[in-house]
Amino acid sequence: MKIIVAGTGFVGLVHAAVCSEYGHEVYAYDNDKEKIRAFSTGDSEEIEKYVNEPGLSGIIKETLGNYLFFSTDLKAVIEGVDAIFLCLPTPPNLNGSTNLTIYNSAAEEIAQILAERKDQRRVLLINKSTVPIGTARHLQKIMTNRGVKNFGVASNPEFLAEGSAVEQSRRPDRVVVGCDQPEDFQILRQVYSQYVNHVRIKYIESTPETAEAIKYVANTMLLTYISFWNGVGAKIGEKIPNVSIDDLRKGVTADDRISTWGSYVSNGAGGSCFGKDIRSLIYQLRQVHVRTKMLESSYEVNEEQKVYLIDRAITETGFQFNNKTVAVTGLAFKKHTNDMRDASSIKVIETLLGKGVAKIKAYDPLAVDTARAVFNPKENVLFEKIEYFHTAKEAIKGTDALFISSDCEEFRGLSRTIEDMVKPPYLVIDGRRMIPDFKALLAKGFTYLAVGSVAMKP
Ligand code: UDX
Repeated sequence: MKIIVAGTGFVGLVHAAVCSEYGHEVYAYDNDKEKIRAFSTGDSEEIEKYVNEPGLSGIIKETLGNYLFFSTDLKAVIEGVDAIFLCLPTPPNLNGSTNLTIYNSAAEEIAQILAERKDQRRVLLINKSTVPIGTARHLQKIMTNRGVKNFGVASNPEFLAEGSAVEQSRRPDRVVVGCDQPEDFQILRQVYSQYVNHVRIKYIESTPETAEAIKYVANTMLLTYISFWNGVGAKIGEKIPNVSIDDLRKGVTADDRISTWGSYVSNGAGGSCFGKDIRSLIYQLRQVHVRTKMLESSYEVNEEQKVYLIDRAITETGFQFNNKTVAVTGLAFKKHTNDMRDASSIKVIETLLGKGVAKIKAYDPLAVDTARAVFNPKENVLFEKIEYFHTAKEAIKGTDALFISSDCEEFRGLSRTIEDMVKPPYLVIDGRRMIPDFKALLAKGFTYLAVGSVAMKP
């Protein structure tokens, strides 16, 4: 098949690469010339400046110029195309609704070019990035209004988690496609021929609206599950003496019906999808006069969870943040990424600054550069109080407290660093339960406060 992938962000680039690996002729298009130049080099360093997924640059290197091509000129590659995947950014508006400005202008541009093409074979336009329920229908109108002939629309949402996107694209749990016409289902069966009859991968065909809804329900379900553990499990462990949250998790998730993923209590879930999608679904349901208390609670529990440990530190350990120097380790929303979208660390640092800390010493193995852009002192003068470090050791040195805000594996060794670099009285706030040997810290006079457990003083 000749495939165009419009938009070369995380979703688009991974999709283009994996489609090219399966022998399709793929044109990855973006209007960002610098990005396309970087990808066209096939050089892993250039590619990883934009999208850093394990295995991705290897596929690009292998298929470039053979099955995979990059372009900033849609018109030049349009003839003979079978399928166009729309993988465009859909950021949130302030009220939670999805901003379709970029999507709409790309769709208009594609429509214009398709209307003028010489080859009038059937072309399928497929929404891959997360878009509100009904967007495929809306895309159909854009195409019809521009006079595009012989086309179909489809929804084919992606379910990729950052850090394992290539692996999950090669072997997804399910492929969901939503179309109206038999010939359009047929085009997608050809695109995904490796999955259609797979024994383990569920290939699900339905209406475009159902496919769009599957994505929102999946992500809000996952966040709700995390919120359940943070809002119920963690609270039991924190308030009722002698309850072990770790044993509670093991005991509950021994049931096959209950997943272990999501049962790890934390100071909130972040990332590019969960917060954005749940707010968008709440908004979409409000448009049809449905108020969804369940979704609102999941979202609120997660937002509160990001910072409630700061209040616990004050009420349960008596720590006063005013004028103190606090280290924050873990700036990205999870390990193995530099992505800080919706990261708990943002709320943690803003709240600490609001409590009058003298200085924040911030560390993350990958996200320091992202953090510098997120905490722009031109936007908020308080951000001048943040200093960045390239090791946890340097960040912890000379501080009064430490907040661990993500699950980087190296944080499991932080107790030694703490003992080496600082002296009690000192407060360790652990938002991810990353310190297995916290008892050694207590024995040396440190105070330890973790999500899911009662506060532990020496
Ligand atoms: C997620 C979904 O997994 C994916 O299917 C969807 O398409 C996009 O959103 P991603 O955002 O990359 O993927 O991250 P994920 O690994 O799911 O983690 C999300 C957040 O939940 C992270 O902040 C993580 O630390 C947190 N989390 C995860 C917990 O707090 N507890 C857990 O047990 C699991």
